[in-house]
This record gives sequence, structure tokens and C-alpha cells, in this order.
Amino acid sequence: MFRKKVEKFPDGVAERRHEDTDFYNEIVTKIPGWLEEATAFRTFDILRWQEEGGVKGPIFEIGVFAGRYFSILARSAARNGNPILGLDTFQYVTRPAVHHHLESIKHLGADIRFVEGFSTSYGAAELLALMDGGRPRFISIDGSHERDDVFWDLRLAEDLLAQKGVVAVDDFINPLTLGVNDAVNAFFAFPRNLAPFAYIRNKLFLCRPSHAGAATAFVESALMKAQDATSEKWRQDAAADRNRVEARMWGKSFLIVC
Ligand SMILES: C[S@@+](CC[C@H](N)C(=O)[O-])C[C@H]1O[C@@H](n2cnc3c(N)ncnc32)[C@H](O)[C@@H]1O
Repeated sequence: MFRKKVEKFPDGVAERRHEDTDFYNEIVTKIPGWLEEATAFRTFDILRWQEEGGVKGPIFEIGVFAGRYFSILARSAARNGNPILGLDTFQYVTRPAVHHHLESIKHLGADIRFVEGFSTSYGAAELLALMDGGRPRFISIDGSHERDDVFWDLRLAEDLLAQKGVVAVDDFINPLTLGVNDAVNAFFAFPRNLAPFAYIRNKLFLCRPSHAGAATAFVESALMKAQDATSEKWRQDAAADRNRVEARMWGKSFLIVC
């Protein structure tokens, strides 16, 4: 199962890489759901950046399904001693079934909380209370794909997010879920207190506009160090032509990892 011994590298990078690979292979991929490998690994990086940078706060996901992405978020929540809240209708996977899928992370001791219903039935204040009043440092939007619902979820994220928090919007640029694109475009049609900093295979990552420069620089540094094929390809593309790895939309520039 998990590697007991890992090679020692002075900066701990290799150990962390092994830990993430083991967690991804042994836990994440065993939970039903949808998640690109490259996106999982960059999410590990972003969460660890927050943990090591002293960014505190709960974690919140809209659209848990069986808990695949949630397992990654819960590991980080457990490390920081923050609660993690999952909101879902639980119409496809029941709440007990989700707990069953998450048995494999029980040993981490995460403070997992679930709330049931449509996200549009909840306001920011109510959700904050369910997270003990702490502003979330990471929000995953992966519930309904309908334009108006996703727009609502984006507005919730804008109201809730911590100053150095990150929002991951799933299914952006997915031809099967065009309502998500519609909602994101409608959202950014007006000045916002959120800005994109990276698109990484099916997820658009947002943060507060004042934090976007630092977040972009962090993801780029992670891509420069990562050893997977997607990152290697990204480095080749970046060296050949910057326009292959960077987009400009809604008046903002952000990284693209395809
Ligand atoms: C694509 S799945 C989520 C996948 C999950 N994040 C993963 O890692 O596999 C979408 C989930 O959103 C839930 N959902 C759909 N509409 C919703 C709504 N309006 N409010 C809350 N949850 C919703 C569904 O029940 C389903 O479990």
C-alpha cells in the first residue's frame, strides 16, 4: 500500500511527490467521480502552498457526488485542522454511501460536514455558520451545470472566499456542460471581486484579484518543477510560444494547462 520509506531529499520535494502519488493512486482514483490527473496534482500543490503559507480557513465543495475531489480537499483540511463542508442534493450518491466511499481517508481525522439540498437554497451567511464562521480558503464549484445555478454558486464564492482563498470551477470549457461557460461569462461581464489565475484541464481557478499575480506565479513555478507528462508538455509549449500557455479573457491574463 503506502510507501513506508522514501528517499531523503534536502527540501522534502521528493517525499511530498511520493505522498501525493500514493494518495492519488491508492485513494483518489478508487472513489467514483471525474477528475483529470494533472488537475489533481496541481490541486495538491495549491493546497500545500496554502498550508505552508499559513492560509487558514475551512474548505467548501458544492457537488460532492461520491467524494473524489472532496477526498483531496479533506486531506488538506485535516492537515490544517479546518472543517470541510460538502453541499449536495445527494440524489445520485446518498450521504451514507459518500461516507462509505470516504472510509479510506477516515484515518486522517478530517472534520467532515455535509449539508443537503440545492445550492440555490443557501445564502452566504447560512453557509458561513455551517463552517463555524470561518471564510473558506478553498471552494470547489462542481454542482449543477445550469447557467443560473452556476451563476449563483459563483456569487456565493465571491461572497464567502477568504482573502488568499482559491475557487475551482469545474467543467469550464467542457462542450457537454455549456451552461457552466455561460454562467462564468455572465459572471465576468461585470467587475468582480474574483479573477482567473489558471485553467487546468476542466477546472478554472479563481482567487481575489489582488492575489492573482502571486497565484499565477505559484502555479507556474509548480509546473516548472512537476515531473508528469502534462507539465513537461506545458514547459515545451511555454518555451516555444507564450501564447500557447496563457490566455486573456475578461480583461485578465491567466495560465492554460490543456
Ligand atoms: C459532477 S458531480 C460532482 C463530482 C465531484 N465533485 C467529484 O469529485 O467527482 C455533480 C454533483 O452535484 C450535485 N448537484 C447537482 N445540482 C446541484 C445543486 N443545484 N446543488 C447542489 N448539488 C447539486 C449532484 O447531486 C452531483 O452529486
